Amino acid sequence: MSEANNYILTMEGIDMAFPGVQALENVDFTLKRGEIHCLMGENGAGKSTLIKVLTGVHKPDAGKMILDGKVIHTKSPLHAQSLGISTVYQEVNLCTNLTVAENIYIGREPRRLGSIDWVKMNINATNLLKRLLNVNIDVSKSLGTYTVAIQQMVAIARALDISDAKILILDEPTSSLDLQETKQLFMVMRKLKSDGVGIIFITHFISQVYEVSDRITVLRNGKLVGTFETKALSRFELISKMIGRTLADLDEMTNIKLKTSKRIQSEPVLEAKNFGRAGEIKPFDLELHAGEVVGLAGLLGSGRTETASILFGVDRPDTGSMIFNGKSVSDYSPLGSIKRGVALCPEDRKAEGIVDDLTVRENIILALQANNGWLQYLNLQDQYELADKYIKMLNIATPSADQPVKNLSGGNQQKVILARWLATNPQVLILDEPTRGIDVGTKAEIQKLVLELADEGKACLFISSELEEVLRTSHRIAVLREREKVAEFSGEIDEHKIMHTMAGSSE
Ligand SMILES: Nc1ncnc2c1ncn2[C@@H]1O[C@H](COP(=O)(O)OP(=O)(O)OP(=O)(O)O)[C@@H](O)[C@H]1O
Ligand SMILES: [Mg+2]
Repeated sequence: MSEANNYILTMEGIDMAFPGVQALENVDFTLKRGEIHCLMGENGAGKSTLIKVLTGVHKPDAGKMILDGKVIHTKSPLHAQSLGISTVYQEVNLCTNLTVAENIYIGREPRRLGSIDWVKMNINATNLLKRLLNVNIDVSKSLGTYTVAIQQMVAIARALDISDAKILILDEPTSSLDLQETKQLFMVMRKLKSDGVGIIFITHFISQVYEVSDRITVLRNGKLVGTFETKALSRFELISKMIGRTLADLDEMTNIKLKTSKRIQSEPVLEAKNFGRAGEIKPFDLELHAGEVVGLAGLLGSGRTETASILFGVDRPDTGSMIFNGKSVSDYSPLGSIKRGVALCPEDRKAEGIVDDLTVRENIILALQANNGWLQYLNLQDQYELADKYIKMLNIATPSADQPVKNLSGGNQQKVILARWLATNPQVLILDEPTRGIDVGTKAEIQKLVLELADEGKACLFISSELEEVLRTSHRIAVLREREKVAEFSGEIDEHKIMHTMAGSSE
């Protein structure tokens, strides 16, 4: 077989412009049969856009696409699917209140005498999950009862079943999966690969790229940097190609480390005592001091987000008390927290954060405006100054502050949420997974920013599922396990000890 025949897909000279943004410029991309190919680049580099051109969401301004030797013009995702191109998008759109089977067959339910044949639908769904992905679950249960990993598998099964898939596209499927779930997904990917499916995989986790991929294509600012054999490209080279900076710069960037691991000596700003809520998080004590970053480490489901929610007042405590700046707190509500000077940057930007139809500026000023009260409207000039300040500080890729936020790339939307809470200039900043979906370069910049904020005297609670970044940014680390705070570490921090504490295993 000649090299050309080996390609299931060739994209040539793809151009795609949005008002004010050249999202793709003369991009070439190839995919082989039975290959896992990572598409890499910073937030806003054009990865999702390239996928959307392939799947017919966007019509490119120029370029050619060849699938299995034939020129194609995809008109819609449905059309692309009929050609064998299946996609699981960055934001999975499934209905958690429907059953697994319903999610797979929604809109194309098997029918018998005009009505939906539930029995057949359940049997088909069970067989499909088993055959394609080797997953055995009760498909008559609602999807919401399963983990995000299983939900992801269901999205994949649905995508693959609609047609005889030649290509499977996964746009950041692992950003909310834990280690075990990620392994499960990789097993599925390898199985599909051995069946000859070509897989395009987008992720910001560099280690995952090296774990599963055969080749890597790097985009930067909408342009192709190159396509490489994974084996032949070092991590360092990959990152420097993505961010377009020299290795020396990179070294400096990724080397942010706490200058001191000493416990900060200052009065606590926030003190939670025996603070808890039945079923969510067991009563815990926690102090946050000015000038300090406290890391919150724990496995998925350990109660990280629950801790953030109760501290911020999204959920009320049913036991314990809180003292803020020496005064006892009585108003446990998000607005009460904002008024005191506490900010929570939430984990799930879709559910709790971003307002799609508002502009970048409107999204950024939202919490500040709510705090000031809607009667004291910030004047437009102040709004623009504030928005521009954070666009610059967080390196938000947008043509202007007036861009609807839904037009931003996933990672840049995440930065807008962060900006919203920074803009309230809080005394206490609770960050729940602030770098999820954010590219390596900006990730390092956000970690640096958190340390700078602490230097300015803020108290930060930094929550992350990546222990490495918790270690890097925290003066002190609290560990959660099974919805309980089980330990606190300060001084010389021992990574292994923390890992064992997180897992609940002895050393
Ligand atoms: N519908 C749209 N309208 C206007 N601009 C858009 C639209 N979709 C994407 N863009 C812009 O095109 C550029 C590329 O965005 P894209 O979503 O492809 O980035 P990405 O590489 O997937 O980034 P991320 O890692 O953050 O997901 C960005 O500047 C983005 O703001
Ligand atoms: Mg994207």
